[in-house]
Amino acid sequence: MTTANAPSTAPDAHPRIAVVGGDGIGPEVIAQGLRVVTALLPGVHLEHFDLGADRYLRDGVTMPPGLMERWRDEFDAIYLGALGDPRVPDNVQARDILLGARFQLDLYINLRPIQLLDPRRCPLKDRGPEDVDMIVFRENTEGLYTGIGGQFKRDTPDEVAIEAEINTRKGVERIVRAAFEYARRTGRGKVCMSDKSNAMRHGHDLWQRVFRQVAAEYPEVETRHLYVDVLAMEMVRAPQQFEVIVTNNLFGDIITDLGAVLQGGIGLAGSGNIHPGRVGLFEPVHGSAPDIAGKGIANPMAAILTAGMMLGTLGHPELEARIRDAVRACLEADLVTPELGGRLSTEEVGTAVLDRLG
Ligand code: NAD
Ligand code: IPM
Ligand code: MN
Repeated sequence: MTTANAPSTAPDAHPRIAVVGGDGIGPEVIAQGLRVVTALLPGVHLEHFDLGADRYLRDGVTMPPGLMERWRDEFDAIYLGALGDPRVPDNVQARDILLGARFQLDLYINLRPIQLLDPRRCPLKDRGPEDVDMIVFRENTEGLYTGIGGQFKRDTPDEVAIEAEINTRKGVERIVRAAFEYARRTGRGKVCMSDKSNAMRHGHDLWQRVFRQVAAEYPEVETRHLYVDVLAMEMVRAPQQFEVIVTNNLFGDIITDLGAVLQGGIGLAGSGNIHPGRVGLFEPVHGSAPDIAGKGIANPMAAILTAGMMLGTLGHPELEARIRDAVRACLEADLVTPELGGRLSTEEVGTAVLDRLG
């Protein structure tokens, strides 16, 4: 399966990629992903950006003025590690850089494949790669993530805090349509929409109506709806039911960490933030993992698979497949980092993947 969400663009042998290692293990895993990218595409143009908690603590800058526009106009992709640091409790650098890019570049599709590469890595009994092979279309520009809301009587016993959930017809329709287009194009003909419309009468009722309306245009696609609590249960009980899942921003965040574990662990899950035809941002699903940062033991496979998604989206699906095969070979040979029971360092796993690129 290619994860490219649009018909492949003409392959560019010299794409321009903006690189943000970011915080914690971000730079460690991105360095390995970049070894793979430059080995497969020697003509790639990389520009590194010093952004994240260190920069913010040094000079107070999260996103320099004009940089988002440069990414939009001058680059083909953004490759990002992770943002989050205990020294910045309000997470302002993640909000400005990661959420900032999602919102300002209007990257409305957060594409998160859940694919088991090595059966031994699945925590579920008797499940193999044919059972865990789905892709999540997470809405990425609205929902509960916009920061609309407020606090009243802060730090008093009468405090009120409101976090508004935004669901627009345009926003819901374009993510639902992206899921159906993917199902049509790839022949993965089952789309499950998940919401909580039994409790949330306004916004999630909109999801229900839009889903039915868009589905009518894709009669060949099998559709299904599950409340998100049941979806979480069913993903664990019988993951083979699912091919394409479409859901809102927050639910998509939660179920893709669950999905990461089904595919072998959070160190194996990649993702792309996409608006077809525009610059995309590619990042592992995991965070900055402060508990293991600086030790050289973070699993770089999620970042490497993410690099594969990026190359697939840039018109090189064959390179994406080669990267996936190389990671699979490493998993099968137990060439893995400690959290998967191995003894290799981040860099040694990077080398093992490089050696198996063929
Ligand atoms: P996390 O994903 O960073 O870590 C959760 C657990 O998984 C930790 O035990 C960690 O050691 C482990 N883990 C994660 N990635 C791993 C890898 N590649 N190899 C081995 N083990 C790995 O989640 P968290 O602890 O909730 O978040 C830490 C910080 O990262 C927070 O500030 C959070 O907001 C941020 N975050 C950022 C992103 C992003 O930038 N895309 C994503 C998720 C979380
Ligand atoms: C992710 C992360 C982010 C999210 C955080 C860091 C804001 O968890 O990319 O999955 O919730 O989208
Ligand atoms: Mn997350």
